[in-house]
Amino acid sequence: MERAQRNGYDLLARVNHWVAAVGFMGALGLGLVMAYGGLDREAVGGLMDWHKALGVFVFAFGLWRVGWRILQGFAADHLSTPVWQRRIARGVHIALLAAILLMPLSGILMTVAGSRELQVFGVTLLPSLGEIAWLDALADWMHGTLGLSITGVLALHIIAGLKHLWLRVAREDEPMAQQI
Ligand code: HEM
Ligand code: HEM
Repeated sequence: MERAQRNGYDLLARVNHWVAAVGFMGALGLGLVMAYGGLDREAVGGLMDWHKALGVFVFAFGLWRVGWRILQGFAADHLSTPVWQRRIARGVHIALLAAILLMPLSGILMTVAGSRELQVFGVTLLPSLGEIAWLDALADWMHGTLGLSITGVLALHIIAGLKHLWLRVAREDEPMAQQI
């Protein structure tokens, strides 16, 4: 398998990025709408199956996506980018990789430790662990707190990412194939 290219990311890296990114943003968007959208219980219930299905998919795919990034390492930084920006970008990337696994994991844990089976569209994926109050509370806290903080981190990433893509396209100094 190819390593990440010196000055960019190969096709597999870009497929990995976008499959996980679309699933993650879908689950995050649904989670925020369910929590803060002022919907009634019935409407929230209707969105919950899609939220869980996307989240479980992100977790399964994320094991591969994050594991592969750990094995491959990140692509080399652009030397023209100021050091402080490179450090922030690296921190943001690590936080996003952690969230790809921790958000769905905490969702799954608060379900099974709260006396519920993990069910998606009526299909049972995991049995209930019974009532484990401390784990339920910890996972619930993590899901809510990390959910809000990662929304801020992601906003920063998207603004930086779009600026990055736009600058490269405007300069036409690197082929599109090397970008995410
Ligand atoms: C519209 C949404 C997004 C855009 C425009 C975008 C754009 C980018 C760009 C341009 C890079 C390359 C940065 C560089 O070369 O230094 C990148 C890297 C990265 N992005 Fe995103 N991104 C988006 C959403 C996401 C989401 C939702 C996640 C994870 C939850 C994510 C996680 C990452 C990570 C971990 C990297 C580092 C390289 C890798 O492991 O793939 N991105 N993104
Ligand atoms: C990428 C994966 C996921 C993301 C980004 C995500 C995000 C969120 C967010 C932002 C909320 C609103 C939290 C709040 O402020 O109250 C939420 C709620 C919720 N999520 Fe997730 N979630 C993911 C995966 C999952 C999974 C896999 C499950 C369960 C199998 C799950 C179950 C729930 C439940 C039950 C709630 C309602 C929480 C409550 O009422 O306190 N989530 N999610």
